[in-house]
This record gives sequence, C-alpha cells and structure tokens, in this order.
Amino acid sequence: DWTMASYRDEAIRLIREQVGDKKVICGLSGGVDSSVAAVLIHEAIGDQLTCVFVDHGLLRLNEAEEVVTMFRDHYNIPLIHADESELFLGELDGVSDPEEKRKTIGRLFIDVFQKYASEIEGAEFLAQGTLYPDVIESVSFSGGPSVTIKSHHNVGGLPEKMGLKLVEPLRELFKDEVRALGHELGLPASFIGRHPFPGPGLAIRCPGEITREKLEILRKADAVYIDQIRKHGLYDEIWQAFVAILPVRTVGVMGDGRTYDYACALRAVTSVDGMTADYYPFSHDFLGETATRIINEVRGINRVTYDVTSKPPGTIEWE
Ligand code: XMP
Repeated sequence: DWTMASYRDEAIRLIREQVGDKKVICGLSGGVDSSVAAVLIHEAIGDQLTCVFVDHGLLRLNEAEEVVTMFRDHYNIPLIHADESELFLGELDGVSDPEEKRKTIGRLFIDVFQKYASEIEGAEFLAQGTLYPDVIESVSFSGGPSVTIKSHHNVGGLPEKMGLKLVEPLRELFKDEVRALGHELGLPASFIGRHPFPGPGLAIRCPGEITREKLEILRKADAVYIDQIRKHGLYDEIWQAFVAILPVRTVGVMGDGRTYDYACALRAVTSVDGMTADYYPFSHDFLGETATRIINEVRGINRVTYDVTSKPPGTIEWE
C-alpha cells in the first residue's frame, strides 16, 4: 500500500527527530495498537526502545507466551515480562463491582508499570498506541462517566508523574489504518486481524467475583469458541467474540449422574467502531455444535447460552 509505505517512512523520521539518542519505554498489551506502535518505534530507533508487558493474569489461553515469543524472539525487541498475576488476582479477591474491578486493575497497572519502567535507566520517553478515536473520546468523555474505553490504559497523568515525554506515532490513525500499517511493518495477518481485547481482560468477562477456577474454565471455553469460529471461517466477519462465565451453577445430566456446574454465555457482535453493535446471527447448527463441544471439552461448564443483545441497549462486554 503506497500511502502506508510513505506514512511509515514519515512516522519513522518523526520518531527519530523527536527521540534523538534517548531511550523510550513502551507498554505492550498484546493488542494491535500497542504492538504496531512498538514495532514502528523499534524500526525507527532499535534498541533504544524497551517494552514492558504487564501480565495481570487476566489474559486468554497462551496469550502471554505468544506476546513474549513474538516480540522478544521474533522481533528481538528488548522486552520486560512483568508477570504480576499474583498481585492482581490477590487484590481482586472478593471484588465483584465492575467499576471497582477497573479501578483496582488501573491502579495496580500504573504501580507495576512504574516499578518496571524505573529500572530502565535513562528513559526519557513513554510510547503509547493512542489512536485518533482515543484522542477524540478522551476529550468528549472528560467530566463524563468514569468508564471510558481503554480506561485502564489511559495512564492519565503517568507520563508527568514519571517525568516522561509522550511518543504517540498512531495519533492520526483510525483502526483500519493501524492494521494497514501493521501489515506494512510485516506483522502476521492473524495477529493484525485479532479482535479487540479490553485492558481489564477476563476480569470483565467473569461477572461477580473472580476466582482462579472460573478464570481457568473461562480460558478453556473461550479457546474452544474461537476455534469454532475460525474453523467455520467466520472470524473476520465478527468484530469481537468471547465467552463470559456466569456467576451461577446449573443442573445438568452426564451419563447416569447429575452435574452442577457453571453456565456460560457466548457473545459475538458486528460493529464498525465498538460504539454500536449488533449480535452476530450464527446458524443454529453452529451454536448447537459449539455448545456441545464446550460442554464435552471443558470441565466445569454444563450449560451454554447465546447473548442476542445489541448495543445499545446492551454493552459489548458483560461488565
Ligand atoms: P462496551 O462493553 O462498553 O465495549 O460496549 C466497547 C469496546 O470497548 C472495550 N472495552 C474496554 N477496553 N478497557 C478497555 O481497554 C475497558 O475498561 C473496556 N471496557 C470495554 C470492549 O472490549 C469493546 O471493544
């Protein structure tokens, strides 16, 4: 793509001009935006960039390993894997209110990020994968409700607190342009096309109290669901798809016995920007087959429901 090739060259020139020979820290979330920002900045300044990946223990199956492998081994980008799942899950113990979950995660995220970043000597810049819509939203939401998109990545005040200047090379881009830039930078198509994933991760897909047991069940069910969607060639038609584990156990039959396990809800929506969304019209065959697979393959779930709520009035996530 000609436009993106020249955008990339210009962005690289600007990053070099802004940063000079100084060091940059970039918070990696595993999402497309921060990944594209990291790879772009690495192209511009090489080892002057160090990435910090805060692992809050609320990621999907194998996700942390995939991020570390891709950035550290494949791209050779210096990466600190801050495995702080014990800390996050400990602090979230007993927390069931969605806003309190977000606040707890946001507060810890900033603490942890700061702790690891302070170990990188001589860093003067903080890189963020802020997109144009994020710029607009943080303006239009200011003074509004505290739930903002990317609220936990909105490390508001963090750069000042740490005495760091911001590098935001994606500030002028929309999501589809970031994907085109990622493609231009050689990121794998399967990675670029990934559905958005919220900063608070599985915490908001586990309504009510978060337990390690529920998280483990949720990870397995979600992996089966996404596998089904990919096998049926539907992944790219869907904006976001995931499983939420419900805080309720239901009775089922298995062989001669009864089971008393968790119910889960499948969610899949189409959307242009996440602000409005329609539920995805899966075939009944697909839904039935997926329910059977989840119940057979995931111990701890014995009932599967499909969420047919659109946004508005629903939200995409369950919390
Ligand atoms: P909702 O659930 O509000 O979600 O319809 C709209 C989009 O935003 C994502 N989302 C979040 N992302 N921190 C994030 O980084 C959050 O607290 C958060 N809450 C929702 C959601 O996955 C969807 O893409």
